[in-house]
Amino acid sequence: MPRKKLMAANWKMYKTPDQARDFFREFLPLVAGHSRDEIAVCPPFVDLPAAIGSAKDSKISIGAQDMYWEKEGAFTGEISAGMLLAVGCTHVIIGHSERRQYFGETDDTVNLKLKAALEAGLIPIVCVGEVLEEREAGLTEDVLRRQCLRAFHAISGKKAAKLVVAYEPVWAIGTGKTATPQLATEAHSLIRSEAAKAFGETLADNLRILYGGSVKPDNVKSLMSEKEIDGALIGGASLDPKSFAAIVKY
Ligand code: 13P
Repeated sequence: MPRKKLMAANWKMYKTPDQARDFFREFLPLVAGHSRDEIAVCPPFVDLPAAIGSAKDSKISIGAQDMYWEKEGAFTGEISAGMLLAVGCTHVIIGHSERRQYFGETDDTVNLKLKAALEAGLIPIVCVGEVLEEREAGLTEDVLRRQCLRAFHAISGKKAAKLVVAYEPVWAIGTGKTATPQLATEAHSLIRSEAAKAFGETLADNLRILYGGSVKPDNVKSLMSEKEIDGALIGGASLDPKSFAAIVKY
């Protein structure tokens, strides 16, 4: 069975609720009737109700960009998986490189968040990827192995059924430099083999591994034609409805 692709927008820290509504007003007619792939949009927390309201009669899923692993408590500024579900979120990005780079996210906090997201019934999109220095030093495989091993630690194959992974080489994020389809394929194969070790062959065969890093309307097709690439996580090019629609309908 071929894996259904997931085209997911990561809006990062862009758009107000009104701007989110404007986006969907323009975007929805552009993708109406498009059912080949799944589509998800992950806006900032404060835009979630606006996005969920706008997308409610469509097949578009709405996700968050982060979450905390505790259910509730004195954790100022944090949002739990239960809170995301309560507003109608289905997906959550975990361990994005910007959170690792600027906000102290570690392999261990990624693991705690992943466990909590799966437990709550959210679809986690776990991000892994090497920085430029690691690639240049020949460390890409070691980094990806470590990130997967630690993220997947002590999670059963049964629990991980909904898992999605995104391979985002950090040097390709927001730089206009895209990984070649071949380079992405190598990384995806390695991630899939780590998932097989952690969760078994069946889950690994069904696991969707997205590519992220400067995906644009003009390079999406060659990436998506690779058997190992099961969709995309799109930053900058997902902010404009026409450009995101062109990517989704590559
Ligand atoms: P860009 O598409 O802007 O390179 O961002 C990729 C990304 O970080 C998606 O999570």
